[in-house]
Amino acid sequence: MKDVYILAVETSCDETSLAIVKNGKDVVAMEVYTQMDTHALYGGVVPEIASRMHTEAITLVLESLLKKSNIKIDQVDAVAVTYAPGLMGGLLVGIEFAKTISYIYNKPLIKVNHMVGHIYANNIENQLEFPLLAMVVSGGHTELVEMNGDYDFKLLGATLDDAIGEAYDKVARIMGVPYPGGPNVEKLARDGNVSYQLAKPVNDNTLNFSYSGLKSNVINLVHNYKQRGEEININDLAASFQYVAVDEIIRKLSIALSNKKYKMVVLAGGVSANQYLRNEVDKLVKSYGTILAVPRMLYCTDNAAMIGAAAYPLFINGKNIVDFSLNAKSHISTTD
Ligand code: KG4
Ligand code: ZN
Repeated sequence: MKDVYILAVETSCDETSLAIVKNGKDVVAMEVYTQMDTHALYGGVVPEIASRMHTEAITLVLESLLKKSNIKIDQVDAVAVTYAPGLMGGLLVGIEFAKTISYIYNKPLIKVNHMVGHIYANNIENQLEFPLLAMVVSGGHTELVEMNGDYDFKLLGATLDDAIGEAYDKVARIMGVPYPGGPNVEKLARDGNVSYQLAKPVNDNTLNFSYSGLKSNVINLVHNYKQRGEEININDLAASFQYVAVDEIIRKLSIALSNKKYKMVVLAGGVSANQYLRNEVDKLVKSYGTILAVPRMLYCTDNAAMIGAAAYPLFINGKNIVDFSLNAKSHISTTD
């Protein structure tokens, strides 16, 4: 079969990323331009600044991508773009850019769900094997998804309130930990002990998650200590929070693994960069005689290669090929 080259575009949050991916697996070239240092000045991603920075960067990112690549734009078979979920302004920059390339070079335009991209990131270095169980953990999503084939999704459970990444970020803010919250809380937790008693989410047998109780618990604890003028051991608080947050994932994953035999468990989304989570999930998955796939760090955080990987089965099956009326959506589930 002829090789398929896809030019992929990702601008849903604070990374402007482009990649050329061959057959949904081989990353011919990738560029990731991160705006993290700018948003760090404000303590979080500022949507208006993010879209302006995407606009300024995207053609320069294309220029450097093409310098690195032995494939020219007119040689690609399709253009794939993240259309949801994410920040509207950022998504629209990527979508308009992808439409322009699609129009000028007369290439099919493929829309990709960002969260599905995080799952397909695993196809870059591993091969997804079905049935699989995907644990999707990001700033906006905490979802347990079963896949019985390419794009054959079943939503098993989701958070009823906050996402795990959101809880990390909010807890970081209240503890005075600088942006990006998640990775910094993980770093602090490495030198801490689980010494604060924090409320565990409701111990039910569903596959849904809840993080707002834990978040509020940390916020109240910090306020109470401040009012009493007592010192908080920030490392211990980070470790205590992380223990409960990850334990919720482990508890729900073990229910799902007891219910059905899966060939593979996949961790997907920005929080999968967390080493403590990776280790705990790995131990659990092994105890069920299953394998865990997690992308390399570079492909865990937002990047365009995962969008190219997710677009490949769509291209092959003629799915999600859209016209220029494509619009962005800020909120969708992995299974939408
Ligand atoms: O998938 P992602 O890059 O963007 C979204 O689609 O949300 O995920 C970003 C989220 C943020 O909440 C960030 O704090 C969290 O992932 N995150 C982490 C770590 N690295 C990123 N959370 C905990 N530990 C980490 N090492
Ligand atoms: Zn993401």
